[in-house]
Amino acid sequence: MNRIRKPILDVLCGQIPEHIPVWLMRQAGRFLPEYREIRAKSKNFLNMCLTPDLATEITLQPVRRFDMDAAILFSDILIVPMALGLSLDFREGEGPVLQTVSDQASISVLEYNSEKAAPVFETVRRVKQSLSGMPTTLIGFCGAPWTVACYMIDGNSKNDFAAARAWAANEPGKLDTLIEKLIDASETYLAAQIEAGAEALQIFDSWAGSLKGEDFAHFIIAPTRKLVSRLKKKYPEIPIIGFPREAGDGYRPYIEQTGVDALSIDPSVALDYAKRELQTVKPLQGNLDPELLVRGGEGMKRAAACILDALGPRHIFNLGHGVVPQTPVENVSALVEQVRNFRI
Ligand code: CP3
Repeated sequence: MNRIRKPILDVLCGQIPEHIPVWLMRQAGRFLPEYREIRAKSKNFLNMCLTPDLATEITLQPVRRFDMDAAILFSDILIVPMALGLSLDFREGEGPVLQTVSDQASISVLEYNSEKAAPVFETVRRVKQSLSGMPTTLIGFCGAPWTVACYMIDGNSKNDFAAARAWAANEPGKLDTLIEKLIDASETYLAAQIEAGAEALQIFDSWAGSLKGEDFAHFIIAPTRKLVSRLKKKYPEIPIIGFPREAGDGYRPYIEQTGVDALSIDPSVALDYAKRELQTVKPLQGNLDPELLVRGGEGMKRAAACILDALGPRHIFNLGHGVVPQTPVENVSALVEQVRNFRI
C-alpha cells in the first residue's frame, strides 16, 4: 500500500509537494482560546506536558482549527534535563526555572532516566493514532545540546546565558562533558519519539546566535552533527530539521556540515540570501516575523507573498520563531489560507 502523500515529508525528501506545506512553531499555545481553557484547569505547564490526555488534545488543537500540515508534539525542550535528574519549574509569567549544574561532579551524577519522559512517548503514540489516514506529519523534537546546556548552566534566560558563554570561553572541557551527556540523552530521547511514531524531527537551537566562529563550530555544529549521524544510522528514513536561530553567517556551514535534511531560518535572514546560499544546499523552513502575524492585514499578506515567491515549493512555510500569545487567531487562519491558495 502506498503511503498517503504528506506535503511536509515530500519537501523534506526533496520532492515537489502537492501544495506548499505550512505549520507554525508554538502553534499550540496561549494564543488559542481552547489551549487557555485547558491551561486554566491544569495544575501547571509541566503537568500538561506530562499528562498524555492533555498533551494529545493540545497537540491536535491547531491541526483541527487550522488544518496545519504538521502536528508538533506538545512538550518542552527542558524535559531532557528533567529526565537527567534536574528539577524543573515553570513559574507563571516568568518562564522556566531549571536546577543548575556547576562543577564536573554535578555533571557526572546526571543520569538519563527514560521513564521520566515516558508520558511524552505515550502522547506521541496517541497523536499518531489520531492522525491516521490524514496528510498531517507528526513532528517530534528536542533542544540542541548547546541551547539545553545554556538552561542547565544559567537556570533561566534572564542573564542572556552569561554563565554558559563564560564556560564556552574559559572552561571548554567542562562544557564538552555536559554537551556529550546531552548528545547521548537527546539521541535516546529522540529515538523513543521515533519508535512511538514521530515522522520527522526538529532540533531547536534557540541560542545558537550567542556563539561565533570556532565556538559555533565546536559547540553547535559538531554536537549536532554527532546527534544527527547517530540517529541517521538507526533511522535513515526520518528527516531532521535544524533550527540554529540567529546563526547569521553560521547557517551555511551548519547546513553543509550537520547532516540535517532541512534548515529553519529566523526572520533576520534576507530572502535573496536564503534562496541563493541556503536553499541551494537543502530545503528551507520559515521565516515570517511573528510580529507581522500579530499585526495581520496587508503587511502580513505582502510579507508572506514575498516568502512564497522567493522560496517556492522547496520550502515549508513557518514563522521565524514561535507564535506569540497576543496573536489574533483570525490572522493565523488568514495566513494558512493564503499559503494554501498559493499555486506552485
Ligand atoms: O511549538 C509547539 O507548539 C510545540 C511545543 C513547544 C513548546 N516549547 C511549548 C511551550 C516547543 C517545541 C517548545 C520548545 C522550546 N521550549 C524552546 C525552543 C523554541 C523557542 O521558543 O526558542 C525553548 C527555548 C523552550 C523553553 C521554554 N519553554 C521557554 C523559554 C518558555 C517560556 C516562554 C513562554 O512562551 O512562556 C517555555 C514555556 C512554553 N513552552 C510554553 C509553551 C506552549 C508556554 C507555557 C504556558 O502556557 O505558559
